[in-house]
Amino acid sequence: MSTQDQSHEVWGSRIGLILAMAGNAVGLGNFLRFPGQAAANGGGSFMIPYFISFILLGIPLMWIEWGIGRNGGRYRKGHIPGMFAAIWKHPLAKYLGVIGLVIPLVVLSYYTILMSWTLAFTWFSLTGDYWGRTTQEAMSEYLRSYQVIGDAAVHDYWVPFGFYFLALGSTIWVLSKGISGGIEKLAKIGMPILFLFAIILVVRVFTLGPGVNGVSPVEGYQFIYNPDLSRIGDAKVWLAAAGQIFFTLSVGMGTLQTYASYLSKKDDIALSGIATASTNEAVEVVLGGSIAIPAAVAFFGVAGAMQVAQSGSFNVGFVSMPIVFQGMPFGQMFGAMWFALLFFAGITSSVAMATPIVAFFREEFGMRREPVAWTVGAVAFAFGILSIFWFQYGFIWEWDYWAGTFGLAVMAFLEVVIFMWVFKPENAWRSIHQGADIRIPGVFKFIMTYITPVFLAIILGWWAVTEALPFLRLEGGVGAGGPIAPGTEIYVHISRLLLVAIMVFFVVMVRLAWKRNRYDDRLGFVEVEEPLEDTPGRALATERS
Ligand code: PHE
Repeated sequence: MSTQDQSHEVWGSRIGLILAMAGNAVGLGNFLRFPGQAAANGGGSFMIPYFISFILLGIPLMWIEWGIGRNGGRYRKGHIPGMFAAIWKHPLAKYLGVIGLVIPLVVLSYYTILMSWTLAFTWFSLTGDYWGRTTQEAMSEYLRSYQVIGDAAVHDYWVPFGFYFLALGSTIWVLSKGISGGIEKLAKIGMPILFLFAIILVVRVFTLGPGVNGVSPVEGYQFIYNPDLSRIGDAKVWLAAAGQIFFTLSVGMGTLQTYASYLSKKDDIALSGIATASTNEAVEVVLGGSIAIPAAVAFFGVAGAMQVAQSGSFNVGFVSMPIVFQGMPFGQMFGAMWFALLFFAGITSSVAMATPIVAFFREEFGMRREPVAWTVGAVAFAFGILSIFWFQYGFIWEWDYWAGTFGLAVMAFLEVVIFMWVFKPENAWRSIHQGADIRIPGVFKFIMTYITPVFLAIILGWWAVTEALPFLRLEGGVGAGGPIAPGTEIYVHISRLLLVAIMVFFVVMVRLAWKRNRYDDRLGFVEVEEPLEDTPGRALATERS
């Protein structure tokens, strides 16, 4: 078989790997979700739980995921069911791993919709399409008319579909080119552009001068960075902070593990892991925190900015920013830069989401990369269409909650237990340090073994009681996406049933894969010395038995 079609791939260069990992982590979460969450949760009061979560959850999970991933790669397993089974020789392991296929597929299908808004708004900025809508109401109406199909007050029906097609299509196209030929190349081009645009925008925002309210953008900075202990005991703020750490670092998804599976035993993961985590945080807190919030605060004041953020987590980016751009010279250009920056941040993440699924079908069913990539694209498209059609019923927010928020914590908990407890702390620690360029401070071994799982269990329990269970029962007519209009509960049910169906589908596929390749749950897999040849997994398992 040609080198193009190896079922297991490798990274082309270290810088390419780091950029791709950073591209995976840096996404819409950094520039849209972070400012939205920080503002909605009181700015300075959000940042303390946020940093604590970063140290006790984010960094440990980053190393754990790189460790699980690279360990899986030794057996040519680029997907979570295989990675879990490689560590825990129990029939249940592979089924627990199914969550690592469900989450990325589900998140991919709605993340590409958010990306399509950024693409559309890049175009609308360039062409000055929303110029003249200088109030929150007017801009919200514009955004809503774009999001809700059936309301063609501003754009024709086909426009949102067209942009969605472009956003998902470009993601799948890159994916079909493979790891080093597609994803790595994209990261090498996309990440520098992203940095450049972000820096230009930060400078522009800070030279804005006092806005209409006489408030300087610097006050926005103070709003985030003045530590505020008044809400430190508020569970909601802690959950929001932990949820943001998961989402922004891409932990609990299954994608970092897939990326790490393309590394060899000799490659460093200790330094690369912390480099990825710190890059993401720098981009999030320094760049992500310095554009949308200060700009919104300068224009609408602190209270106004908080209000926009509470009205919808992306409204700071899509409602207040366009108003700010309309008030500055060359606003169309800066507006286009802002939304293009979001698109680049998004696409380097969306390609990552599809990789675990592609790896699964290639490795276990011997399928070729292109057909798998396009099939995943078609499935995501079908789900995406539902999310677009049923946007106003909160369909998309159910998925965002169950897969993109709650699901991440569940997956993270499983990983910590499997890697730190089933595999044992000594093995985990040794595995992370194989080929390492640095030694991780010993205190992290303690944190990863005890603190991270306990902290996670508390968060999960808290979440279950205060949010998940009430949402599940639709208590007070409120679903994961907010209040549900009477009579439209059916869409929430469909959304949840689909999640269950996707889970069942992957359970069946995992079962089939294990049968087909005659894997023995108690023996595990055979190590692959040279991860370069295309040897189907089946041959490996029979060799062993
Ligand atoms: N971390 C990405 C962001 O901040 C989101 C993401 C989720 C990326 C899952 C990959 C996988 O937007």
